[in-house]
Amino acid sequence: MAREVKPETALDRFVATIRDWYAEEPDPEKRWECLTPVMQELLADPSVLEASKNWPLTNGGGPRNPDGRVENLLFYQDPDYGFALQGVKKAADRSDRRGIHDHGRIYTLYGLLDGHEKVERFERIDDGSKEDYAAIRQTVEMAVGPGDVDVVKPYEIHTEVTVGEAAVALILRSEPSGSSTQHRYNMETGEYQASQGPRLVPVDMFGK
Ligand SMILES: [Fe+2]
Repeated sequence: MAREVKPETALDRFVATIRDWYAEEPDPEKRWECLTPVMQELLADPSVLEASKNWPLTNGGGPRNPDGRVENLLFYQDPDYGFALQGVKKAADRSDRRGIHDHGRIYTLYGLLDGHEKVERFERIDDGSKEDYAAIRQTVEMAVGPGDVDVVKPYEIHTEVTVGEAAVALILRSEPSGSSTQHRYNMETGEYQASQGPRLVPVDMFGK
């Protein structure tokens, strides 16, 4: 009996290339600086944009779940190197800011697949001596559109802001969300707290 052979997808090619980088470049700092073009190739593949129409909205289209946690779609987690390809799909009427945060020790590439958003970056301006307190100031405000990739290194403080448009993003992380303690920041009050990071919702990228 003939065995069905599944055709190679854009995700298969992406994963193979990322795995090659892990095998060839042991220094994470150097490796993560080289991965942007690989992410851009995935974002530019028309099959991915088409497939995204079938993905569920994260948080049912709202900013958060009742328990206060945000969601990420989970498309792939590598069994050997631990990296994960995640995503978010936000509705047009979701006019919220995700909240200012860092990703703990995780390296991240945030790549926009569809729609437009604003990326904001911040830096810490206190000495870290006061518990549960962090003073920050904004350093960057950047409009991003399809194909743009933001490289977020460990502990870098940032947020993505919706601008009244539906938006879909793919997020490559050195470890899946939830594996490292993240932090949330409040620029007005200086409140600084540990958080678990997004909850993961497994999705078949090319499923119906
Ligand atoms: Fe983030």
